[in-house]
Amino acid sequence: MSSPHAKTAVDDLSATQAEDELAFLAREIALHDRRYHQDDAPVISDAEYDALRQRNQAIEARFPDLVRDDSPSHRVGAAPAEAFSKVRHRLPMLSLDNAFNAEDVAEFVRRVRRFLKLADDEPVAVSAEPKIDGLSVSLRYENGRFVQGATRGDGETGEDVTANLRTLKDVPVRLTTDDPPPVLEVRGEVYMVRAEFATMNEARAERGEATFANPRNAAAGSLRQLDPKITASRPLRFFAYAWGEAEPAIEGRYSAFLDRLGAYGFHVNPAKKVVDNEEDLLRFYADIDARRAELPYDIDGVVYKLERIDWQRRLGFVGRAPRWALAHKFKAEQAQTKVREIRIQVGRTGALTPVAELEPITVGGVVVARATLHNQDYIEQLDIREGDLVRIQRAGDVIPQVLEVVDSDRKDRGKPFVFPDHCPICGSLAVRPEGEAIRRCTGGLICPAQRIERLRHFVARDAFDIEGIGKKQVPQLVEADLVHAPADLFTLADDEDRLARLGDLPGWGERKVAKFREAIAERRLVPLERLIYALGIRFVGDVNAAVLARHYRTVEAWRKAMIALADGDDGERAELDNVDGIGPAVIEAVAEFFREEHNRQALDDLLKQVEPAEAAARGGEGAKLAGKTVVFTGGLEAMSRAEAKARAEALGAKVAGSVSAKTDMVVVGADAGSKARKAAELGIEVLDEAAWLALAGEPA
Ligand code: IVH
Repeated sequence: MSSPHAKTAVDDLSATQAEDELAFLAREIALHDRRYHQDDAPVISDAEYDALRQRNQAIEARFPDLVRDDSPSHRVGAAPAEAFSKVRHRLPMLSLDNAFNAEDVAEFVRRVRRFLKLADDEPVAVSAEPKIDGLSVSLRYENGRFVQGATRGDGETGEDVTANLRTLKDVPVRLTTDDPPPVLEVRGEVYMVRAEFATMNEARAERGEATFANPRNAAAGSLRQLDPKITASRPLRFFAYAWGEAEPAIEGRYSAFLDRLGAYGFHVNPAKKVVDNEEDLLRFYADIDARRAELPYDIDGVVYKLERIDWQRRLGFVGRAPRWALAHKFKAEQAQTKVREIRIQVGRTGALTPVAELEPITVGGVVVARATLHNQDYIEQLDIREGDLVRIQRAGDVIPQVLEVVDSDRKDRGKPFVFPDHCPICGSLAVRPEGEAIRRCTGGLICPAQRIERLRHFVARDAFDIEGIGKKQVPQLVEADLVHAPADLFTLADDEDRLARLGDLPGWGERKVAKFREAIAERRLVPLERLIYALGIRFVGDVNAAVLARHYRTVEAWRKAMIALADGDDGERAELDNVDGIGPAVIEAVAEFFREEHNRQALDDLLKQVEPAEAAARGGEGAKLAGKTVVFTGGLEAMSRAEAKARAEALGAKVAGSVSAKTDMVVVGADAGSKARKAAELGIEVLDEAAWLALAGEPA
């Protein structure tokens, strides 16, 4: 939504309008803060963000009585992730002054000469290297061992991400030398190679996870993970290019220091060069700019640093930037072209994403024919319409962006773009929950754009658990026109013609088909909570599915209640609202699902094929584990985590994720880690899998 009065000058706002708009801005700015600081996935440009804050400030200045408690002017950005401890840099991590043209570069060299009082014929050797678009970190080595790694933070204080940095192949745990310095802080850039970033993003999209906007955001998001295993799974790399505290002090030439880092086992950028005059600096800049698209990673300029470290020391720094270094930035690659059409793409999770189809144009050596429009708000804020001339930018970003409409004064402009409220692929209703930017298709089970992902969820181990049908087989079945909706899996097992076609698919054959039939036969009787979970309703994970199943007991009761809810029955809504653990987001998601006729049909078709078992009521007073809090840790052999959880809940227990003084029992499987240790420390009852099975037994 765009601000209701954005076009009214602050001086012309009425108090009511001002109040409205401050409320809007508080929400909007908080959202962008989160997107930027916590998700590393901003959706607006810095300039647009600044404009929102300035407008907020101007309105507050005119209406001081209307300043809200949650006003954005009381906060600077979102709090950084609280979970990392802080590291105070012993020497501040500096940033760089920027140069945008040849004159700025000339002035930099002149200033150095003036400052050092160099004779006119004294050569000034400068080392030039690409400016990597990643995030800088500082790695501390004591006697050659990596002991601490920190992000830059505000330059004075960063976050301790040692465990995460240890997972990077490019970060040596030991310096490869027999004579390590007592202390050396190596600084440099963590980044992602474009191709590896793209592969990772594709895999994320396939799993229905949010994708990162560009390699820089992905690198930042991946490094600031609380679980180092996640960082380890991301393709992060590191280039070394500077130092912090060092004992003994670094002397000599910068390029020799880089060579030494190379010998210690670091990667230093091979595209570096030492020159001793301005023309060669500019030639290096032009050469790297021309090769920019060929470099495997994103860069946003080149950095010049004085070769002589004694001169660097004499020059020192002003504010946050050294006098002995300069970032020569590339021009953002921009161009103007026409929007032919605004199309809506439907992602595998049902998200509707608007895309501008453009008159193809070359931007920085690459032909661009489409650009992302992010979401409904973005189109509205920029008022982008079909036929408009727009300015686009291909920055480090992989996906080009539309920055603004250039000809919005044109008389014969098209109509404002109306964002569809139905899915362009399957025609189901597309809804946008309050406070969210994304509109989603509700036709999950039948929408061709989402079909494969939904069916994968349906057959997965913690859902219907259909043996032999997994990630690979689902697209095969869909593409061969054998299965479109869940019920088709079951009708397939009884249909000789289709089974024959199945047997002919690559990797199949008679034996596998026979096994498939057996697997299906075993799943015709299904616990109600699994059926509910398998439908893939938003926010209805295994826990909520179990809660719903236990509350309604039979599929008939559940289905009837959900349809009534969808049809606006307030009684049903109130009943659901009273169920412990079910919140408004779940209620809305279930209602949306059942409001969509296609989904009701898909469920009814499925119910002709399977028989959901009546669910046990939540364990009453007499239940074996009534009132107890149980934690599972490590892998169990005999049942999935989802099933173990469901069993514990059926026995009246509450299942928690972490061990605390409130925990009554910890069940440990294979490879249990810190939770098992903690339980032992706290003297909490610990059960192995055999003891758990004896206690939990077979489901009733
Ligand atoms: S040198 C005191 N070299 O650019 C000098 N910085 O805009 C410290 N950066 O915070 C920086 N590539 O994150 C240097 N080859 C390079 C760089 C580089 C990228 C980043 C770094 C720094 C920022 C300043």
